[in-house]
Amino acid sequence: MESILKALQSAIEVWDPYTAQHQKRVAQLALAVAEEMKLSNSRKELLRYAALLHDIGKINLPLELLSKPGKLENCEINLIHRHSEIGFEILKRIDFPPEVAQIVLQHHEMIDGTGYPRGLFGSEILLEARILMVANTIEAISSNRPYRPVIGMKEAQDEIKKNRGSKYDPEVVDACMLVLLEKKFTLDDLKIHKLETFSQFAFQDRYETDPS
Ligand SMILES: [Fe+2]
Repeated sequence: MESILKALQSAIEVWDPYTAQHQKRVAQLALAVAEEMKLSNSRKELLRYAALLHDIGKINLPLELLSKPGKLENCEINLIHRHSEIGFEILKRIDFPPEVAQIVLQHHEMIDGTGYPRGLFGSEILLEARILMVANTIEAISSNRPYRPVIGMKEAQDEIKKNRGSKYDPEVVDACMLVLLEKKFTLDDLKIHKLETFSQFAFQDRYETDPS
């Protein structure tokens, strides 16, 4: 299973280095939150797989759309919103535990039912997906995106605190704030490689971003 995970990560990195690095940073934070919430090792492993592949469904989208600055048209938003279902369709065909595809399917669900694709409420959403949602929000707001400059970590924390108990699971928000403030967790500044050839990518990925 680990080799399939690595192969899919490599494919995503060749396609879009930003998405690949985003997924790694989200996985780091999500696992720190899961540790704080004392999830079992097997649940943390499901979360690691799902976090490292959660945006795989975006491979369906043109890169120009993912990096398009400014306001998006409704049809463009609808297209982007399909990525969690497409990710589910891809991952359910792989011999991963079925929860991995389910977590990816649910990673944009909000506990007040305003998320997508199903509009699930509260505990209808897997805990791993609720953790992934919060980690995803922190990473997305605090990091540089191809379509806009950095907003900031303070603003990211304000967003999850403001919507604690409405959009985001309150226990997950509390654990995340603890990890960020008291445990001084910082998201690694992983390099974004400009990839020209696959062989160059393979060398850099192995020796620079995965030193272990
Ligand atoms: Fe996503």
